[in-house]
Amino acid sequence: MSSVQPCSVSDDDRRPPLNEILAVAQHGLARKPKRLPSWLFYDERGSALFEQICEQPEYYLTRCEMALMDEHAGSIADCLGSDVRLVEYGSGNGLKTRILLQHLHQPVSYVPVEISPEPLRQSVQRLTRAFPQLPLQPLCADFSKPLRLPIPPRAPRRTVLYFPGSTIGNFENPDAVALLRKMRNEMGDGGGILIGADLKKDQALIEAAYNDRAGVTAEFTLNMLARLNREIGSDFELSAFTHRAHYNPMAGRIETHLVSRREQQVKVGRNKVAFRADEAIQVEYSCKYSLADFAALAEKAGLAVLRVWTDPQQMFSVQYLVRASAVAH
Ligand code: AVJ
Repeated sequence: MSSVQPCSVSDDDRRPPLNEILAVAQHGLARKPKRLPSWLFYDERGSALFEQICEQPEYYLTRCEMALMDEHAGSIADCLGSDVRLVEYGSGNGLKTRILLQHLHQPVSYVPVEISPEPLRQSVQRLTRAFPQLPLQPLCADFSKPLRLPIPPRAPRRTVLYFPGSTIGNFENPDAVALLRKMRNEMGDGGGILIGADLKKDQALIEAAYNDRAGVTAEFTLNMLARLNREIGSDFELSAFTHRAHYNPMAGRIETHLVSRREQQVKVGRNKVAFRADEAIQVEYSCKYSLADFAALAEKAGLAVLRVWTDPQQMFSVQYLVRASAVAH
C-alpha cells in the first residue's frame, strides 16, 4: 500500500542526528544540578501526550489561545496584510494555524517547521485536505537552529514567523532573546513574528495546568525517560521517578522536575548515573509574562510589539513583533 505524498518534505541536514541524544543525556545528567532539555519530550509518544494535555480541563493555555484566535483572527490577518509567507515554528496539530490560514489574505505559502517527521507528515496531510489551494512547504528541522527556508512559489510581501502556544516560555531569558534575534534575521526587513505568550495570573491556576488530575502531564514528563530508554538504551525505572511542577513566583515560571523516589543508579550508555533519594532532574521551565515583561524581552532582541491580542479573561496573549527599526517613533 502506498499513499500519494501531498508534497515533498525538505529535510534540513543540519538537524541534530539521533546519536546526539546520548551525548545530550550524558552531558545533562553530569551537571549539578542534573538537567535535561525540554525538546527531549517530543518524540512521537510525547507529541501525542502533549495533544492530550491540551484537552485537559486544567490546561487553560490551548483553550484560551483558541478562543483568542476565534475572536481575533480577522484582525490579526488584517494586521499581517496580504501575500504573506507564513512559517510556523513547531507545526503542532495545526488547529490554531487553521483558523489563521482561513483568514489570511492571499497567503503565498505555509511552511511548517517541525523536528519530528511523523507529526509533520500528519499535519501536512490534514492541511492539504483543508486548504487544497495553499502551497505547503514543510521543513523537517530544529527551529532553534538557522533554517534554510524552501524557495516560495511567488514573491511574498512579507515573511511572518508564527510561534504559537507559548513555546517561547520554555527558553530562559537569554536563550529566548537569542531565539527571537534569530527569528528577526530569518523574517527579513519587512517581516514579523506572531507569537503566543502565556500571561502571569493566579499561582494556583498556573500550577493546576501543570498538575492535571488525570495525570497526563506526569505521564508526558516521565515519557522523557521512557524515550531515552527506547532510543539510547538507558535503564531508567519509570516507577522510581515522579513528576513535580511548581510555580516560582520570583522567576515567573513553572519549574518541572523528575524526582528520584530513592537512591539508585541508572545506566546511560557507558556511564552509571547515581541519584540520591529526592534528587531532581530539571526538565522544563514554562515562563509566564506580564505585557511589560514581554515587551522588554522583545526589545532586547531588537524587536518592538506592534499589537497585542488577548482572550477576554486576559489569560493568554498573541503578539505581533516587528523590527524595532521599522517602527516610527
Ligand atoms: C508547549 C511549551 C507551551 O510549557 O505549557 C505542557 C509544554 N509542558 N505541559 C508548556 C507543556 C507541560 C507547553 N508548551
